[in-house]
Amino acid sequence: MPHTRKIIIDTDPGQDDAVAILLALGSAELDIVGISAVAGNVPLNLTEKNARKICELAGRPDIKVYAGAIRPLARELVTAEEVHGKTGLNGPQLRNPTMKLQDQYAVDFIVETLMNEPSGTITLCALGPLTNVALALIREPRIAPRIKEIVLMGGGFFEGGNVTPTAEFNIYVDPHAADVVFKAGIPIVMMPLDVTHKALTTAKRTQAFRQLGTRVGIATSEMLEFFERFDEEKYGTDGGPLHDPCVIAYLLKPELFKGRNCNVSVEITSELTMGMTVIDWWGVTKRPQNAMVMRDIDHDAFFALLVERLGLL
Ligand code: RIB
Ligand code: CA
Repeated sequence: MPHTRKIIIDTDPGQDDAVAILLALGSAELDIVGISAVAGNVPLNLTEKNARKICELAGRPDIKVYAGAIRPLARELVTAEEVHGKTGLNGPQLRNPTMKLQDQYAVDFIVETLMNEPSGTITLCALGPLTNVALALIREPRIAPRIKEIVLMGGGFFEGGNVTPTAEFNIYVDPHAADVVFKAGIPIVMMPLDVTHKALTTAKRTQAFRQLGTRVGIATSEMLEFFERFDEEKYGTDGGPLHDPCVIAYLLKPELFKGRNCNVSVEITSELTMGMTVIDWWGVTKRPQNAMVMRDIDHDAFFALLVERLGLL
């Protein structure tokens, strides 16, 4: 068996989260130790159910799904039904899951896994607000040096924000959690809007999933056709940005991405810029470089990888 990389996916499905989870499930290089759901795109009772729906869609009811934080650390929960629909997974008709939700609280699962697995062997893939990750770090600070890497979708700088003029959704929902994570001294790879906005689900690309002719391929095209309409109207583009799969694609083919080590600091005081990720791209401060910030993607190769791997499910 080739060397596999152990990952925990922390997620708020969300159609783009769903495609990221499918990409991971279709990739033998990755060993999904568990999926932890967090409140974000829709409330927790739906994100955890959606995570289980996606595992069953992929024929993987064996995957362990855990429910985590029901709300951000300090602020009220802000959701995004206008983008993802009332269920958070509008588009395909997916039946209610029969696989069971794990009893263990997701934050305890994250802490326990990191304390029990050999140090440096677990990668956290964060696709939603960082509440679960921050809670785990606060509950057990000893996990920080044991985490191999955190690869996260969140933030934005040259692209601005997608919730406010300056803040991207995942960071905006829980800026205090993001502040904890970016200050934890853990190796971070960041996929901000600056790179995800270059990965557009054009009609041709969405059609390629449908042409797989499989349950997964057809459901994926239906998810994307629903999900992309909000950003197509907003940005006037052919297709919408496929954010979260960039995280998993990086683990599989890091060469698809280009970026640089920067300092990333999170605004947690001003309401005007709350949740802004201030990225010191030109190194004008002495602040420590705490993240590899991605800005470019080979988007044709990215979508080819997605079609190839989802075609295996
Ligand atoms: O801003 C995009 C991010 O917010 C994605 O992770 C999407 O799923 C939502 O969670
Ligand atoms: Ca997400």
